[in-house]
Amino acid sequence: MRAFAVDAYGSRVHEVERPEPEVGPHDVLVEVAAASINQLDVKIAAGEFKQVLRYPLPLTLGHDLAGTVTAVGELVRRFAVGDRVYGRPRDGRIGTFSERIAVHEDDLAAAPTSIDVGQAASLPLVTLTAWQALVERGGVGAGSRVLIHAGAGGVGSVAIQLAHHLGATVATTASAKNADLVRRLGADLVVDHRTQDFVQAVSGYDLVLDSLGGENLERSLRVLRPGGKAIGISGPPTPEFARAAGLPLPVRLGVGALSAKIRRQARRLGVDYEFLFMRADGRQLAAIADLVDAGVIQPVVGLTVPFAETPEAMAALERGGLVGKVVTARE
Ligand SMILES: NC(=O)c1ccc[n+]([C@@H]2O[C@H](COP(=O)([O-])OP(=O)(O)OC[C@H]3O[C@@H](n4cnc5c(N)ncnc54)[C@H](OP(=O)(O)O)[C@@H]3O)[C@@H](O)[C@H]2O)c1
Repeated sequence: MRAFAVDAYGSRVHEVERPEPEVGPHDVLVEVAAASINQLDVKIAAGEFKQVLRYPLPLTLGHDLAGTVTAVGELVRRFAVGDRVYGRPRDGRIGTFSERIAVHEDDLAAAPTSIDVGQAASLPLVTLTAWQALVERGGVGAGSRVLIHAGAGGVGSVAIQLAHHLGATVATTASAKNADLVRRLGADLVVDHRTQDFVQAVSGYDLVLDSLGGENLERSLRVLRPGGKAIGISGPPTPEFARAAGLPLPVRLGVGALSAKIRRQARRLGVDYEFLFMRADGRQLAAIADLVDAGVIQPVVGLTVPFAETPEAMAALERGGLVGKVVTARE
């Protein structure tokens, strides 16, 4: 079957012929109708995650899918042949840039019924990230004040909608050309990151979702109330993350050093810093599908290209300037 893979880290993504997937007892075989591209695919291809995610090479990329079940393992009870599903396969079993993939049933959910297959494929990784940051880690609810950076991006565009739905006041950073979009998604305050300083515009907030890292994250600590929390999804990773991920001791020590500065800054300001690396979760995707079908979360897809153009789509995401998600659809 056709797939898109890298042979070595830092090499170009190209089309390959791969054997048909083996379907384990808890696996669901999915005919992939659409996939979406994440910055994580670009970063893995570049080798940025090789210490943390130890994939054998060549590696078929791709973390998001929507498609149809064509076979199920002998112990699968929740899905049957013909079901329309969407999902984010767990780490270690990625590879949705492929005609077919076997996915653990716990990583899938029935696809939302009110949107098309490309829109469904745009959602899993970014909506799970938003859910795990805002609901699980952030405890966002009515009256919370939340700053979501990069509101026009893949994560930001769904995180704004979820935070708004949870009853939060939502501030976001976006270019002026995307201000109307992020307001429509539910942002109450839009800061143009090209001309304005968000630290001047926002203060006393409960939570920041930072997808940029570096100086943007450091400055984000200053908009929080005492006891508030910044959740970083672009790093730096924390010792808690390294422990939970079961990384070997030398890597854990290195990880601790990477985030020492931001953790020290957070302590001084009396706020918290956490790193989140999202995980696959089919039950959360089922709850998200309900929100999509209720009209609470609308997919934002900026570019859809044929499956054959997966490498070009990855390059477009890397170049930036897009809104929302990049989707590849089978011809
Ligand atoms: N740890 C995890 O679990 C996890 C999960 C998902 C994503 N991530 C990471 O989070 C990052 C964002 O992911 P994504 O999918 O949302 O990326 P994306 O869709 O590529 O985000 C692009 C957006 O970033 C905005 N942007 C660029 N510079 C900005 C700035 N200085 N201030 C505010 N906005 C800015 C742009 O908006 P404008 O055009 O409006 O400027 C653009 O729409 C990536 O690094 C990704 O790897 C991590």
